[in-house]
Formats: sequence, structure tokens, C-alpha cells
Amino acid sequence: MESLSLRVEPGLRKELKNENAFSLLSLIGNTPLVQIRQMTKHLRGVRIFAKAEWLNPGGSVKDRAALRIIEDGERSGKLTRDKIVLDSTSGNTGIAYAMISAIRGYRVQLVVPANISEERKKALEAYGVKLIFTDPILGSDGALIEAQKIYDTSPHLYFKGDQYNNPANWQAHYETTGPEILFQTNGQITHFIAGVGTGGTLVGTGRRLKEHNPRIKLYGVQPDSGFHGIEGLKHIETAIRPGIYDETILDGTLFVKTEDAFEMAQRLAREEGLWVGPSSGAAFCASLKLAESMGWGTIVTIFPDGGARYPEYCLDCEKQKNRLLVKHPMLIPSPP
Ligand SMILES: Cc1ncc(COP(=O)(O)O)c(C=O)c1O
Repeated sequence: MESLSLRVEPGLRKELKNENAFSLLSLIGNTPLVQIRQMTKHLRGVRIFAKAEWLNPGGSVKDRAALRIIEDGERSGKLTRDKIVLDSTSGNTGIAYAMISAIRGYRVQLVVPANISEERKKALEAYGVKLIFTDPILGSDGALIEAQKIYDTSPHLYFKGDQYNNPANWQAHYETTGPEILFQTNGQITHFIAGVGTGGTLVGTGRRLKEHNPRIKLYGVQPDSGFHGIEGLKHIETAIRPGIYDETILDGTLFVKTEDAFEMAQRLAREEGLWVGPSSGAAFCASLKLAESMGWGTIVTIFPDGGARYPEYCLDCEKQKNRLLVKHPMLIPSPP
């Protein structure tokens, strides 16, 4: 009888021996760069590209930072098998921690504002995460303060990822997102634009790009007020300042209204086939405004997650504005 053993090519045999070769973790990063074509037709000499970060296995840009934070914790000995991974996160980092921890065998506890979407709660529960809810009015800062309190009561139980202050967050982008963009644009990028949550994406990618070519301009994108509905982004002036956020490397900050971010996200779905989240809408809104003021150049921005993370929005912009008014009673849409 013929042997059932498979004939394995020598190259593949080497791959099979490499523990990471078939791990979900090896799929983090190396996301495609997509050109926005229809919505930029009126531009002469300026191209806009976006990194499709929702194609990371955990569904967002935060896979990159979370992986680096966990690996750094392991390397430093601060994260051991008996520790619980603890952090405050409005969702995407939590999902990334949950996915990576499931693979690496860690338990996870996350402090989140109680108004995060039902879908995010379900996703986190599916991964087996323990959720601790804080007052939605206090936003991501309320969750941040509560996570610190929990850690302070029993530091020996937890590994605190501390995405707002952990240099591993921006280093992930310095080592992956930055070089990927340089490679994918063949070094032709002239402007980099990214939303500010922790600042990790902007600062890490920005540092790498400036190091390569100091003439590359860097812009952060923030909501135009402390009361906004763009999940994942921070209005730095009215929030707790992330320790890793370094605005000295920036050439400027572009402020975006919540309604404009939502409207732009809807247009990206309908005109470009890119069903992305509101912070991608904000990033594109800022990119387009900047592009319209430029003569020539190559803008690269980041689309952090997909629209499927926000199933209640995008179907109808008017409905969305009403939903935001209920969720954030102080958010007053500006007059037309
Ligand atoms: C949807 C979304 N957009 C943008 C960001 C900003 O990324 P960073 O924390 O690297 O500034 C985040 C971060 O959590 C996010 O979840």
C-alpha cells in the first residue's frame, strides 16, 4: 500500500518548522495601499492613498500596537502566564489584545465606556474578555482613570498594556507602518495624515518618514471639539494628553467636524467601495481639504477600521446625526 505521508517541498518544510509561518499573528501589518480615485478626480497633481488597516486579522490598525505591546511585555518579563492583560480601550485595541492573548494564552480585562457599540461588546465577549464599564459621559478618559485604579489595587495580578504611554505603541508603527508606506509609494510620499487617538500611528509612522526624508509633512487629525462622535479619536486640548503623543514633530493639525467625518465615510463606501469607519472618514476629509490647497504631491493617510464595526451608521446621514445627538446630547450640528 502506498504511504500516506505527504511529499513536502523543501521550502515548505522550512516554513512548517517556523512556528510563526502559519500563525494569525504573521498576518498583522503589510496592509494594502489603496488609491482614492473617484473622489479626487477634481485634483490636479495630487494623489491620495489610504492604508487599508481594517484588513489586519483583528480588523483594525491597533493589531500592530497591541502585538508589539504584548511582545515587549514578554521580552521584559513583565508579562508572564499568570498575569491578566489589563487596559482601557474604546474597542479596537481591546479586540487586538483579545485576539493576540487568545493565541498566546493570556486572560484579558478591559475597561470601556458603557456606550461602546453592542457589536464591539459581543466581539470582546466572544474572545472571552472580562469587561468593566465606566460612565459614558466620562468618555475614554473615565475608562483610563478606572483602569489605573484597578491596577493600583493589585499590581501583582496585572500586566498593564498602557497604550497611551507605552513606547511600544509608536515603535510598532516606526518599525512596520512607516517602512511599508515608503516601500509602497516608492519613497514618493510627500504628506502623511493620521487621526490621533493615542497618537501611536501618527508619531511612530511620522518619525520613520521624517527620518527618511525630513521634507515629508506630517499632519494629525482631531475632532473639532471635546464633544464629538468620532470613535477612536481624541480632542487633545480637552482630554488627558497621551504620554506618547509628541506634537513637536508635526507640521500641523487638521480639525474635522463629526458630521463631516460621517458624511465622508458614507461617500467612501458609495463612491469608492470602501466601507470604512468614521475615523477613516475624518482622515479622508482632512486629506481632501489639504489636497485641495496643494499644487502637487502624494498624500498617504490611514483608514484605521471598517464600517462593519459601526453597523448603526452610514445607512443614512440624517439618521446618524439624530443618533449622535441622543448619544452625545451636547453635540450640536453646525448650521448648514
Ligand atoms: C477607529 C480608530 N481610529 C483611529 C485611532 C487612532 O490610532 P492611534 O491610537 O494610533 O492614535 C484609533 C485608536 O484606537 C481607532 O480605534
